[in-house]
Amino acid sequence: MELTGKRLVQGVTGGIAAYKAAELTRLLVKQGAEVQVAMTEGASHFVTATTFQALSGRPVFTDQWDQRMANAMAHIDLSRQADLIVIAPASADFLARVANGLADDLLATLVLARDCPLLMAPAMNRQMWENPATRRNVARLQADGVGLLGPACGEQACGEIGVGRMLEPEDILDAVLAFFTPKLLAGKKVLLTAGPTFEAIDPVRGITNLSSGRMGYALARAAQQAGAEVTLVCGPVALPTPAGVTRIDVRSALDMQAAVMARAAASDIFIAVAAVADYRVAQTAEHKLKKDEGGLPLLELVENPDILAGVAALENGPFCVGFAAESHNLEAYAQAKRQKKNVPLVVGNLIQDGFGGDDNRLILVDDHGAHPLPPASKATLARQLIEHIAHLMESR
Ligand code: PMT
Repeated sequence: MELTGKRLVQGVTGGIAAYKAAELTRLLVKQGAEVQVAMTEGASHFVTATTFQALSGRPVFTDQWDQRMANAMAHIDLSRQADLIVIAPASADFLARVANGLADDLLATLVLARDCPLLMAPAMNRQMWENPATRRNVARLQADGVGLLGPACGEQACGEIGVGRMLEPEDILDAVLAFFTPKLLAGKKVLLTAGPTFEAIDPVRGITNLSSGRMGYALARAAQQAGAEVTLVCGPVALPTPAGVTRIDVRSALDMQAAVMARAAASDIFIAVAAVADYRVAQTAEHKLKKDEGGLPLLELVENPDILAGVAALENGPFCVGFAAESHNLEAYAQAKRQKKNVPLVVGNLIQDGFGGDDNRLILVDDHGAHPLPPASKATLARQLIEHIAHLMESR
């Protein structure tokens, strides 16, 4: 749980996206955060306080004159107890009130009285977002150091299409996780590969493997949250791109090699998580192979280039991290791969743990020996691996 011990105030204001705010509360609590919800009167027209009370396990504050605090100063106490205030959704009216320093209800008052950072996820009709008055308010909030998350572009509740949708709760959670992540890779450029490659046999068939891309995506997200500028070169996978990450889609090992080599020299760190096909078909058939023509087809294979070894061989190249997926003798094979590819760190995982799924178990093999990490989610392991890489780079 990444937010254990963190105290958050989640503010909910009046807008149809308020129904998604309940999911955000659930996600924050699931990550271990203590979440205190405060709602505006407008929000209570869309969702009830009972929903948030049930999800957060705490009574919800809605009223500036709430008598539950012994000192009758809910606005001071709630903001002093928080490490972060997140307003989701933040309506156009609420942005305007905060931008102008108004304190005309409990939520606006506690925001004005805060001594902790403030993140806001705006949600409104596209014309309201584009209105010069909202533009002025947004500029003022940014100048005041308020973090704005989104809004996203897409179909709106009113049926119009444009910018103004609240970010999805998972994306707001990511921003909160990023907020609390130490910026160990600030200023660094990280290049990663992820997923399988697909080596075409004919226009519809090919050789591939069961890599889902999850481990590589988790690492891309963790590196971005640690402050790095991240580029992810990935084979065919069906995962949403992590926020703030530049994604380059490729298909074959040769495509992946070209995309990586074009960027490797300008990167500080290269992490090769992809399960790259060792071989490709020498001659891809132009037309679909027919079963009843010419008997059993014989596929001639040729070896693919080793992308990781190629990057590791660059003069003044990036700090290289390889992965090894093995069915047995994990530490010995990981060590052998580290020497063969001449990289400072190889991360071993068993194929039954690593491929597909959300969890994994890793062993980190470097100059100092082998460091096993206990089984955990790929997100947690990714964060631990990024920390390990940052420390190794620091000590070089
Ligand atoms: O995507 P998931 O479902 O989450 O699964 C994650 C994973 C199991 C695929 C991942 O954790 C992993 O172990 N990836 C490496 C798979 C592997 O066994 O690679 P390898 O032994 O073929 O290669 C060793 C290293 O060289 C890897 O870093 C690989 O990316 C790299 N390599 C290999 C061949 C090649 N032609 N070019 C390379 O860069």
